[in-house]
Amino acid sequence: MNLIDGKAISAKCKNETAEEIKAIVAKGMRAPCLAVILVGEDPASQVYVRNKKRACESVGITSLEYLLDENETEEKLLELIDFLNKDDNVDGILVQMPVPKQIDPDRVIEAISPDKDVDAFHAYNVGKLFTGAPRFQPCTPAGVMRLLSESGVEISGKNCVVVGRSNIVGKPMGALLLAENGTVTICHSRTNNLPEVTRTADILVAACGRPNMITADMVKDGAVLIDVGINRVGDKLVGDIDFEACKEKASFITPVPGGVGPMTIAILMQNTLTSYKMRFGL
Ligand code: GUN
Repeated sequence: MNLIDGKAISAKCKNETAEEIKAIVAKGMRAPCLAVILVGEDPASQVYVRNKKRACESVGITSLEYLLDENETEEKLLELIDFLNKDDNVDGILVQMPVPKQIDPDRVIEAISPDKDVDAFHAYNVGKLFTGAPRFQPCTPAGVMRLLSESGVEISGKNCVVVGRSNIVGKPMGALLLAENGTVTICHSRTNNLPEVTRTADILVAACGRPNMITADMVKDGAVLIDVGINRVGDKLVGDIDFEACKEKASFITPVPGGVGPMTIAILMQNTLTSYKMRFGL
């Protein structure tokens, strides 16, 4: 069993972005800029937003933080997005999900300019991803792809099974694996005989949000196991894969924490730089 070190790979990825930004700024140009909006005080979201801000500082991206009240109206949020869309000094706009119930997340996602949509959530960018001409990378799935490539895992021709069909992870994960010529199956809560399907996986990506749902009997010997889950159980963080039970069967496995988690932000930094370069024709 080989443990995939997400911390080390994300550090390498952020370092590449930082080096590129350093060279740009050395020419006298402004630094890339990411605007992060958080509505409300969800503790997990507060942690994510703080980590995004720290990552920006570490790679040389200017970060703008907008902390809106839990009761803020959708109209006010859309006004702020419109203002940031028009600001030439802003390259990326991100609204931390989930948003409070008075706000429609779909309207928020569609309001962000596709040219500043560093989450790659907008239908235009999702379409670009599925037609094979992506501009921005979906952060978590692209982070998984980087873990696989850094680990030397071949995707072409392999059975790739994704458990979970969310717009943020499952669906775009399937698209990226397919683009690398994987044979992709996306499973979900209505899948008949899930263990039978997961046992066909050469590469298994768990993104269902259920602690330890993937058990050893659901895994083929020698499979590559990628765990996107982050579940709080008591005072511990556990993934969607039963790590202790599955690790001996796996050829490669990601830990939780320290696997996929750190990659999401590294790709976000990369996307913000991509947006900047598109804006300046670099
Ligand atoms: N909530 C959970 N994951 C994400 C993400 O990648 N981006 C945003 N904006 N919100 C999230």
